[in-house]
Amino acid sequence: MDLSERLSHIDISGIRRIFELAKGEDVINLGLGEPDFPIPEESKEAVARALEEDLTHYTPSMGLHRLREQIAGKLKGNGISSAPEEILVTSGASEALEIALLALLDPGDEVLIPDPGFVSYAPLTRIAGGTPVPFDVREEENFEPGPEAIRERITKRTKAIIINSPGNPTGAVSSKKDVKEIAGIAEEYRLPVISDEVYDEIIYEGAHHSIGAYTDLAITVNSFSKTYAMTGLRLGYVHARREIVEGMLKCHQYVQASTCSLSQAAATAALEKAKGYTEKMTRVLKKRRDLILKLLGDIEGVNCVRPKGAFYVFPNFSAYGSSKDLAMTILKEARVVVTPGTAFGAGGEGHLRLSYATSEEKIEEGLKRIKDLLRLQATT
Ligand SMILES: Cc1ncc(COP(=O)(O)O)c(C=O)c1O
Repeated sequence: MDLSERLSHIDISGIRRIFELAKGEDVINLGLGEPDFPIPEESKEAVARALEEDLTHYTPSMGLHRLREQIAGKLKGNGISSAPEEILVTSGASEALEIALLALLDPGDEVLIPDPGFVSYAPLTRIAGGTPVPFDVREEENFEPGPEAIRERITKRTKAIIINSPGNPTGAVSSKKDVKEIAGIAEEYRLPVISDEVYDEIIYEGAHHSIGAYTDLAITVNSFSKTYAMTGLRLGYVHARREIVEGMLKCHQYVQASTCSLSQAAATAALEKAKGYTEKMTRVLKKRRDLILKLLGDIEGVNCVRPKGAFYVFPNFSAYGSSKDLAMTILKEARVVVTPGTAFGAGGEGHLRLSYATSEEKIEEGLKRIKDLLRLQATT
């Protein structure tokens, strides 16, 4: 059967493909995009209570009012003033990104996306009928998306810009100056900026700067997946100007109706009560980041930009061949899952993404296996 033309340009996620090969014993997984922490106790209790109280029906499509009030409070901390009417609760940041694109794009419209950048941006743009246009994110500039690289790619067909700080796969954190400059470009060309901020609270150095603090053309996307380790509860949100949110609501209403009532209870409790949860997790992740950087430093010919946020390193392994071949060799020979840099765009060639959202023991063992394999290859 013929599927839609739209889907013909979309490949199964490069990360998924590797995961499928990664089943089996004795495999160390450094491919995971989720914290290995349980959700806050307060959230577990809230879910149990919600079940007890039969909170198992549809909620308002926009999300529970009390949750949206809490989200407005959280956004205020990022310098964004918002009302609950401008906040839509979604099924993860993934849905938020998609409905933002569906609300904005007509067929053939271009969306600027970072390269390397998160795997979903290009396929989600295509599903919404648009054309992804990558802009370079350079290793020499610590992978911080440069405003000029964005400006250079703007054409008459550009309809939106996607940015992501702290970034996946690079861990880069954009400076206030760059964020302000990108806001200036958005204002100059009247372009909405979809700002993916799912790692905003997982920062080791520097600070998070939300573009929504500088322009009302921002569409701020966030999630409970990373900050509260709730990946399986599928809960995120988006804030934008009212007319944009109303457009997104049209898509959300018919595709999703409303998000899971129990997940909303978990998220409300996280924001209301789980104070200090993310800071504590971030302290553990920072130790792991320092460990993985040290171990990478011991591998001959490998350089790694020091990530300031998220939980990934994006080292340059170009001395050892193409990313894809190397990731496959590491999986087959060393039984370690790493993600090839090209899963994140052509600009990721020569790199591997390693997640350190796993135990120190696994990081040590995984890096030892990679080091031993590469040493063996060099001598044979
Ligand atoms: C940068 C980025 N954006 C969005 C997502 C999707 O998050 P969610 O689980 O909220 O859909 C991820 C997940 O890995 C991510 O890394």
